[in-house]
Order: sequence, then C-alpha cells, then structure tokens
Amino acid sequence: MSKRIVILGSTGSVGRNVLDVVAHHPDEFEVVGLAARANSDLLADQCAVHTNARFVVQDEWAQRELLDGHPDLAARSISGGGEPFVRLIEETSPDLLVNCLVGFVGLRPTLTALEAGLPVALANKEAVVTGGDVVMRASRRSRAAVIPIDSEHVAISQCLRGSSVDDVKRVFLTASGGALRDRPLEELAEVRVEDVLAHPTWVMGDKITVDSATLLNKGLEVIEAHWLFDLPFDKIEVVIHPQSIMHCLVEFKDNSILSQMGNPDMRLPILYALSYPKRIETDMAKSTVLEFPELTLAPVDRQRYPCFELAMRAARMGGNAPAILNSSNELAVGAFLAQKLPFGDIPHVIEIALEKVAHAPVESFDDVLETDRTTRAFITEKFGI
Ligand SMILES: NC(=O)c1ccc[n+]([C@@H]2O[C@H](COP(=O)([O-])OP(=O)(O)OC[C@H]3O[C@@H](n4cnc5c(N)ncnc54)[C@H](OP(=O)(O)O)[C@@H]3O)[C@@H](O)[C@H]2O)c1
Repeated sequence: MSKRIVILGSTGSVGRNVLDVVAHHPDEFEVVGLAARANSDLLADQCAVHTNARFVVQDEWAQRELLDGHPDLAARSISGGGEPFVRLIEETSPDLLVNCLVGFVGLRPTLTALEAGLPVALANKEAVVTGGDVVMRASRRSRAAVIPIDSEHVAISQCLRGSSVDDVKRVFLTASGGALRDRPLEELAEVRVEDVLAHPTWVMGDKITVDSATLLNKGLEVIEAHWLFDLPFDKIEVVIHPQSIMHCLVEFKDNSILSQMGNPDMRLPILYALSYPKRIETDMAKSTVLEFPELTLAPVDRQRYPCFELAMRAARMGGNAPAILNSSNELAVGAFLAQKLPFGDIPHVIEIALEKVAHAPVESFDDVLETDRTTRAFITEKFGI
C-alpha cells in the first residue's frame, strides 16, 4: 500500500524535489495534500497532477486568484477559519507530514502533527531550532517520529543506524562554505544578492542559500542535530567540505569513523526520509565513485563567518536564544534579499537581538511564539526592517 503524504511548502525547492521523488516512485507514495504561501500557478499545476490532493494557498488573495482561474478546484480547496495548514492535516489524515516550509511558520503544523501521533519528515529546520525541546517532547509523548530531510541529518541518522549515541565521540557536520567561501574578506560587507545566491554545489531556496553563505545555516544544523540525536553541543563539530559529497562524519569511541556520501542532490535524503525505515531502490542521482572530485576537509575560518559564531553563542545560551537567533536572522535575510540591508550587517542585527531581547526559558509553543513576536518587533523598531 502506498504512503499517503501531505506536503507543506510544495512549491519551494525542497517541495518540488519531494514531488519529483514521488513521480519516480508512484507506487510508493500518494500525495493527498499540497500547500504553499502564494504561488498559485504552480500549485494549480501540482493539483492537476495529483488529482486526489486537497490544497491550501495561505495568502487569501492568491487562493482567490487560483479559484477564479480554476473553479473546478473549489471542492478540493481548504478555506475558511482556523489555521489552514493545520486543517489540511486534519482533513486529509495522511500517513506522513512532509514539512518543506521555510522559517518559523513551520513550527505550529509540526507540533499539531506530532501531537496527533503523525510522523513528520522535516526539512523545516527552523521548527526544531526554535522549538526543539517542545517538538521532541511532543514526539516522545505520541511516539510519532521526527524524520530529518536535511542531508547532513539524514547522513547522521544513517551512520547511527544500529549504534548507540553513547558510543559516539564526535559528529562532524560538513559545510560547503557557501557562495562566498573564496571571496577576499574585505569584499564581504558589500556583496550583491546575486553573488550570494550563486551557491557552488546545491540548488536551494533563497533564504537557505543566504544562510549557507553566512554559515548561519550550519549553526542552525548544529542546533537541529543536538535536538534530533540528543547530542551535547561539545560533541558536534563543523568542517568545510567544498565538494558536498560527504554529508557527515561520525567518529565513535573506538576511533572508527563512518561517513555517508552521495551526489549533492536533495532527492536522495528526501527518498530516505519518505521511505524510512525501508530503503527503496531508485534510479535517481546515481554516484559514480571513480568520478567523485578530490574530497577535502578543512576547519571553519571563524573570522569569515561571524553568524556561525553567533549561532553557537545562542546554542550555549539555550532557552529562547535560538528562537531569537532565528527570528532576527529571518528578518535580516529578508531585508538583505529586498536590498534594504547590506550583507555585512546581517550578523550585527542578530548580535544586537541576542543582547537586547529578554532571555527566558521555553516551556511551550506559546513561549516560542512570544519570543518570535518580541524579536520581530524589536528588530523592526531598531533597524526599520
Ligand atoms: N532547498 C534545499 O535544498 C534545502 C536543503 C535542506 C534543508 N532545507 C530547508 O527546507 C526548508 C525549505 O527550504 P526551500 O529551500 O525549499 O525554501 P523555498 O524554496 O523558499 O520554499 C519555501 C516553501 O514554503 C512556502 N512558504 C514560504 N514562506 C511561507 C509562509 N510565511 N507561510 C506559508 N508558506 C510559506 C513557499 O510558498 P510560495 O512558493 O508560495 O512562496 C514554498 O512552498 C527550509 O527550512 C530550509 O532550511 C532546504
């Protein structure tokens, strides 16, 4: 029987890759729900292919536009009151939620699914970074798994299969170093949006591509790994690996080191997450190992990546600090992409937020929501972004 899935963020980079995986394995998966913020044209195309899927377009004007152009889709649309993503999950009763949203907006549907006992395949790392303890508690309580989609975390989970975390000495997350890895330091402050979006190895959405250039993304992934695998921060390290072939290295207490490798193609970690705990034979993204480039590892240049240092600071602070980090970064990156903030000011915005927004413990979703609201209000008032 095929696995029935709902995809939140189906119009994004990861969401489109999920649909490609489904297209390659139509007997394994059935799409019963699709959701996006505003890209109604693409969502309508996706609905035409996945004829059993209900759908949500979050922005009301875009939903109206879609229905005006495609009145035949009205019966499949989720509209009316309440949280539309939550209602999509409730009304379709899938076997798996695939969360490919970008940003804090992904936390609430993740929690709703887990609380209802529905496993979540999670690309939306911001949900775990901001609400890690709350998310993992909900998962333990209902025994619904959080299955990572991020390639590094899929790699760790494969290396840990059959092993105990107690036997792990260190986990190394690999980072390409992003689009600006080889730029002279003095040029970094004023780089243009198009320079930052030219990622050397991965094709991804704009926000994560900027986060890769600042290495904030790798800081988020360290926090994500801490929660997902119950690893203390002093056991997680980051190394620069420009070829993006080795997705992690796990060193065990007997000094054995395992690495998971493959071409930098998101469809492979997505297939693993969707089919977990099975493995499915596929013809996608085959690796020819003799054609791999020379594989190199290097330490992180801390001066080049101040956002990475700030992420590690927030990780050590705990409580709501990772949520402050995330919300301030979301605003700063959005402003950079809108050409309202120079690239070099992104760490400044985050640093001031971490210093000035009140620190507090996180016990519940409402605590994270409050931190998000407070941080956004503070940044908007202070920086006008
Ligand atoms: N891209 C990758 O290869 C990759 C790899 C690993 C992890 N991730 C993580 O996966 C997540 C998605 O990344 P992505 O690169 O696929 O992002 P993306 O291309 O920007 O797509 C984001 C998706 O979320 C929707 N969305 C954005 N803002 C929203 C909002 N405020 N409310 C509701 N829906 C919203 C978008 O809808 P519209 O299209 O209608 O705007 C789109 O479907 C991120 O957390 C990222 O860190 C990505």
